[in-house]
Amino acid sequence: MSLNISVTQTKLLENKVNAVIFFVEQDFDFKKFHDLAKENCPHLEILMRDKKFVGKSGSVFVASVVANINHSYLVFVGLGKKNKKNIFNFESYRRSLGSLIRTLPQFNIKSIALELPEADLFGFDIEYVAKNTAIIINMANYVFDQLITDKTRISKLESDADIKIVVNRDIDKIKKAVDDGIVISNAVNQARTWVDLPANLLSPTDLANYAQKISIDHGLKCTIFSESEIIKMGMGGLAAVTKGSEEECKFVILEYKTEKTAPTICFVGKGITFDSGGLSIKPSGSMETMKEDMSGSAAVISAMSALAKLKPKVNIVAITPITENMPSGSATRPGDIITFYNGKTAEVKNTDAEGRLILADALSYAVKHYKPDFMIDLATLTGACAYALGPFFSGLFSEHDEFAVKVEEAAHLSGDYVWRLPLTDDYKIAVKSEVADLSNDSNRRYMAGGTTAACFLQNFVGEVPWVHLDIAGTAFNVPDISYYRNHSGTGAGVRLLVELAMNWK
Ligand code: BES
Ligand code: ZN
Ligand code: ZN
Repeated sequence: MSLNISVTQTKLLENKVNAVIFFVEQDFDFKKFHDLAKENCPHLEILMRDKKFVGKSGSVFVASVVANINHSYLVFVGLGKKNKKNIFNFESYRRSLGSLIRTLPQFNIKSIALELPEADLFGFDIEYVAKNTAIIINMANYVFDQLITDKTRISKLESDADIKIVVNRDIDKIKKAVDDGIVISNAVNQARTWVDLPANLLSPTDLANYAQKISIDHGLKCTIFSESEIIKMGMGGLAAVTKGSEEECKFVILEYKTEKTAPTICFVGKGITFDSGGLSIKPSGSMETMKEDMSGSAAVISAMSALAKLKPKVNIVAITPITENMPSGSATRPGDIITFYNGKTAEVKNTDAEGRLILADALSYAVKHYKPDFMIDLATLTGACAYALGPFFSGLFSEHDEFAVKVEEAAHLSGDYVWRLPLTDDYKIAVKSEVADLSNDSNRRYMAGGTTAACFLQNFVGEVPWVHLDIAGTAFNVPDISYYRNHSGTGAGVRLLVELAMNWK
């Protein structure tokens, strides 16, 4: 459920809300708050000095109001310092806003009024600031609490909380931007919920059913292939990974259509609802969080639910193979050789490198049936990429510079940050096998596990311009970012995909 975020032209201090919010830059001059302090909170300056509040990025200062019938608190949010280009970093604003939202429940503040900071301060336009403000307010308030019975433990704003964004011009444009932001953040939070649901409560069938429900609610075309159809079609990668599991695998396709002449982009998402490693079983410490291994799938399905409402001028096909990677007497063995949908073969040297196996079929299927103009896949694919980049950047791999730049721009604008890593011919030999076309475990001499995984996938994309995003490090339990939660999904990729589609040029 989204928070109630509305846009108003009522002057900031005239709103009847629990708290009024002020954004301040680091080492701000208190003079401009003299009058406000005099009327509302005479000791404000001293209180701030006591708490050493100077407006550092992400800092929040809450002051009780002594005499005002409209509100009980004044809340100051630090924006930090301007950079060398004399602008504030927009990501710092996102995080400051996140800190604000996380602070409010601690004071039982249920309604606020805030004025958008001047868009020029960030080098963006006011609609961008408004849209992202709504996105972050809603994202910061997400908490996976549906399985916690003691509700007193949960610190968040309830859905009846009232967030008023005060503006004095461009009201219609800003309203639209805020509404778009709510749509986008609802999609992000939906992806996070699916990631956070443990594998005993989210089977491949459950996730496929959620996708189908979205298609019905939003008028998208939806196709779901069952396990027997998947086997019959020759999707040997998806079938091989599924063999050890009691759960049925699914192959889900969602289609959004605009004008026929518009380009078609394919989104492909890795959907492993649990990755035990299979017979090449993971050590328990690495297995603990492997419910997150369907984050790519959650991202593409959720992005479609937002795009169905936002209506971009590109056709989009979202494809996601969904299954579970388990060990059992019927599981795929190391050494088994399988045949994919496009006829290529691979030796399964390590059953824990299962993501590339299911994506191989999905990418091949997309190329054959949709002939997309562009294709982007999102996958929690390798620990190597997570180690290389850490939790703040997804790895971007591509041989198509133009498309890669488009994705980098969408990443920069959306806040789903990416960092490009190499994908060049030198590494391609690392995934060759002695006994099949490919090996799913690359030759260790080449190291660079994120890159060699991308090289494996590259065998299934034909001539289609393609970007691979490895979200293994960014999809779950990202530290220090106020609008994410520890031990929880981030919805990595949803904002990026929406931005990419909406700003297609
Ligand atoms: N799902 C994992 C990758 C992963 C690791 C995701 C950490 C999120 C956090 C993937 O299926 C995997 O196990 N990859 C192996 C590949 C190796 C066996 C070639 C890895 O990274 O160790
Ligand atoms: Zn694995
Ligand atoms: Zn995996």
